[in-house]
Order: sequence, then structure tokens, then C-alpha cells
Amino acid sequence: MDRPFISLKMATSLDGKIALSNGQSKWITSQESRAKGRELRAKHDGICVGSNTVMKDDPLLTTRISGQPDPVRIVYDSRLRLSPDSQLARSAGDIPVVVFSREKAPKGLKQMGVQVFSIASVDDGLDICESLIVLGTLGVNSLLIEGGGTLAASFLRRGLIDRIHWFRAPIVLGGDGRNCIGDMAFSSLDKAVRFQRQSYEMIGPDTYEVLERVT
Ligand SMILES: NC(=O)c1ccc[n+]([C@@H]2O[C@H](COP(=O)([O-])OP(=O)(O)OC[C@H]3O[C@@H](n4cnc5c(N)ncnc54)[C@H](OP(=O)(O)O)[C@@H]3O)[C@@H](O)[C@H]2O)c1
Repeated sequence: MDRPFISLKMATSLDGKIALSNGQSKWITSQESRAKGRELRAKHDGICVGSNTVMKDDPLLTTRISGQPDPVRIVYDSRLRLSPDSQLARSAGDIPVVVFSREKAPKGLKQMGVQVFSIASVDDGLDICESLIVLGTLGVNSLLIEGGGTLAASFLRRGLIDRIHWFRAPIVLGGDGRNCIGDMAFSSLDKAVRFQRQSYEMIGPDTYEVLERVT
């Protein structure tokens, strides 16, 4: 399948958590890392998140950098929980929002400019391969996944993450925090997805690593 180049951005604690158990995640990494994360957005055609992230954080997912293009914002949302009051829906008239769902778009969301694509479901959620075909038709050749851990795991499980951008703050959230990658259910270590570090630097108090999949 001809598919976009897919990168995963993770902003985690030292122990690989992206939120507390109550979902609070603002902010784990520093202002400097978050600015770099917004620069990354501008380098991609699309940014995607899972529906839990939208429900919890109500993100806008823009670059907020003047003169920089905003990518298409994409949500995997089987039950179409995206609210017309969400920041994504309210800004859809200006910056495209694509929602993958099992449901058909209600009039309200459509009128606001949200594009809803009905796709099939598989074992672990919406059919990611089908979604990538749709994204190809929309001209999305590079995709940045911004979480959460459940969506990231679905892409990883299928060997669909080409690059990881990992911002790691020197704080510990503990075992009850939310994992940056959901369950993978590997039965042996040789099934693990392996990456090779391409670069490593400090950004403010955080580390920033770029890793590429070992094929
Ligand atoms: N620190 C950070 O940078 C960062 C970044 C992002 C998120 N977060 C935090 O992460 C938490 C949310 O993460 P999460 O892991 O609970 O949820 P998530 O990955 O944001 O969303 C998962 C949901 O997406 C939907 N989905 C549809 N198709 C899917 C597929 N093929 N694979 C996986 N999911 C699919 C499912 O819900 P439906 O059944 O409704 O479709 C699924 O439950 C929030 O607390 C948020 O604040 C932190």
C-alpha cells in the first residue's frame, strides 16, 4: 500500500507516561519542547489523535506559528463523540478537520465544515489501513500522530510508525499514570518493534530524541 510517511510524537515523563490516571496531562514537558512540537506540526500534512485525547484535552492542534501552514487535523472517533462545541469543530471552517468514524456525520458537524468518513472497524478500533487510503486521496503524504497511547499502539502494532519524536521531561508520574504506548500483546521479544536513535539533544530541561524504525 502506498501510504504516508508516519511519525509519532511523544511528550512523556521519565517513566514513559503521558498523563496522570485522572487524564491530566498539561503540561508534562517544558514550554521549549512544546514550541518544538508545534514546529513539527508545520512539517506534516496531517496530525492525528484518538477520540479520548479529544474528549479529555479539547485540543486545537494548530501550529500557532505565523506564516506556517496548519496541517489537516484528523480524529479517530468510532462513535462520533466529537462535540460541535469542541475547538476542532469550531475551527473546521478555517482549518480542515477530518474524522474517521463508524457513524455518518450529523448535519451540525457537516455544516461546520467537519469532513466525516465512515470506515470499517477491526479488532482494535477503526481500520487504520482504510483510513490511510482515504488520507492518500486527500493529499496527506506525511502524518504526525500525537497520541494518545491507545492510538499509537494501533499504528505500532501494524508496523506503521516510521519515526518517533520523543520529548522526555525529567519527572516521574508513577505506574498509575497513562502509558505513552498502549498494550501490544507481544508473545516474545523478537516480535518487539525496534528503533534506532538518529539524534539526541537537550531542549530546556527535557531530552529530545529522534528514532527511526529498524526494518
Ligand atoms: N502527553 C502528551 O503529549 C499527550 C498526548 C496525547 C494524549 N495525551 C493524553 O492521553 C490520554 C488519552 O489517551 P488514550 O490512550 O486513553 O486514548 P487515545 O489514544 O487518545 O484514543 C483512543 C480511542 O480512539 C478511538 N479509536 C478509534 N479507532 C482506533 C484505533 N484503530 N486504534 C486505537 N484507537 C482508536 C477509540 O475510541 P472510540 O471507540 O470512541 O472510537 C479509542 O478508545 C488523555 O489523558 C490525554 O490527555 C497526552
